[in-house]
Amino acid sequence: MTFKESPEAVAQVLRHALVGDDLPDSFTLLGREWTLHRGVFPGTLSAATEVMASTVPYPRGGSFLEIGCGTGVISVTAALAGCVSVTALDINEKAVANTAANAERHGVSDRVRVLHSDMYTALGPTERFDTIFWNVPWTYVEDGFSLSTDLHSAVFDPGYQGQARYIAGAHEHLADGGRLLLGTADLGDRERLDAFAEEAGMRVELLRRVRRIEEVRVMEYHMLELHAK
Ligand SMILES: C[S@@+](CC[C@H](N)C(=O)[O-])C[C@H]1O[C@@H](n2cnc3c(N)ncnc32)[C@H](O)[C@@H]1O
Repeated sequence: MTFKESPEAVAQVLRHALVGDDLPDSFTLLGREWTLHRGVFPGTLSAATEVMASTVPYPRGGSFLEIGCGTGVISVTAALAGCVSVTALDINEKAVANTAANAERHGVSDRVRVLHSDMYTALGPTERFDTIFWNVPWTYVEDGFSLSTDLHSAVFDPGYQGQARYIAGAHEHLADGGRLLLGTADLGDRERLDAFAEEAGMRVELLRRVRRIEEVRVMEYHMLELHAK
């Protein structure tokens, strides 16, 4: 079964995550304690962070690029799982600081580089990674929808332009034989995503499907891999 959420319902959750004075400054996930900065996508807002962090096939001994690192749970987990070099980037400066704090907290600052970047823009033109991953803002909204707060960019993707840029730009930063992964859910718009992959000459494979009961609904998370055709 597929559910679609209204942007208003999502925005209400965001308002609480931004201004709720009951929000703690840390959370526990995957058996570890994580620092949470206000204005950053909380790793416990849904099960997405936990599901993706434990589902990504990390390139042990290799390099990992995470787009949209948020609190840094996935990038830090990648470093702890044996990636020798991790680049974590986010368009939200608060997320950059939050990821740096969590890399420090878990003793992996030496192999987690954190960048403030809109998609791949802050990377050098020759930088290549064994695996590139993004836990995407899967809520589709029309082009022109205003991303009025940092958290809006964490959950809304106007026209799916962010995901289109993610897919189209990846080939410039994938090592030979590298893997392009994308974490989404059944609330996302797969048809639109597949159309952008098609435009970029790629096909989408469902690597893992994970179902979680969340409050009143069952959410289904999808780990996708994009392959050159
Ligand atoms: C669903 S959140 C995931 C956060 C974190 N990876 C996690 O799993 O908890 C999506 C993240 O993508 C970031 N983001 C959105 N658009 C971006 C862009 N154009 N470039 C870089 N990061 C972006 C958001 O700021 C947000 O931190």
